[in-house]
Amino acid sequence: MKFFIDTAEVDAIKALIPSGFVDGVTTNPTLIARSGRNIKEVIQEICALTDGPVSAEVTALDTKGMIEEGKRVADWADNVCVKLPLTWAGLEATNALSSQGIPINVTLCFSANQALLAAKAGATFISPFIGRLDDIGEDGCDLIAEIRVIYDNYGFDTQILAASIRSLEHMENCALIGADVATAPPSVIRDMAGHELTDKGLAAFMKDWEKTGQSIL
Ligand code: E4P
Repeated sequence: MKFFIDTAEVDAIKALIPSGFVDGVTTNPTLIARSGRNIKEVIQEICALTDGPVSAEVTALDTKGMIEEGKRVADWADNVCVKLPLTWAGLEATNALSSQGIPINVTLCFSANQALLAAKAGATFISPFIGRLDDIGEDGCDLIAEIRVIYDNYGFDTQILAASIRSLEHMENCALIGADVATAPPSVIRDMAGHELTDKGLAAFMKDWEKTGQSIL
């Protein structure tokens, strides 16, 4: 299972590099706006930090505009993955750009049928948004499970990139279901390492170690 970091904050990505957990990065227009940075500059900086795919989203809403913007964005760095919304125009642009060898992450997926179309259009990644489905009273992880079954039924190469992940439970469920990738904010990735029994156990070990008066170095 690959981990992508869902942020446009360069320092937050840099801080995670030593962990070895940064398999790629996802951004969206909201995250770029939140960074306060120029999109090209920030995407190029992020691309230099990782060999993995870095998703940069187009903002045109029509097919022609998406194709033009997609080509431009793909030129910014070798590891840019063009992010296109799951609209009819986005699917047409996915078909056009993927057939030219440009990797595409189709975003804002909320149904299994949408995911099926994205795979047929040649998407490299499909991004179902778990948290936003939970927000409207559905179970977002059910969608991940449905897409897993459909993609396996037909042997689609499109990777399931579970997005809008907000909790440790989301991460666990995605791993259990078999999502290929999970993209999450840095805080969620860091919180995965925590357990109260780990803290308690370590405190007890340290207390006992002090009593020995020894030092390893
Ligand atoms: C993924 O590509 C999106 O940028 C992101 O996961 C959306 O998450 P949110 O629903 O928490 O904004």
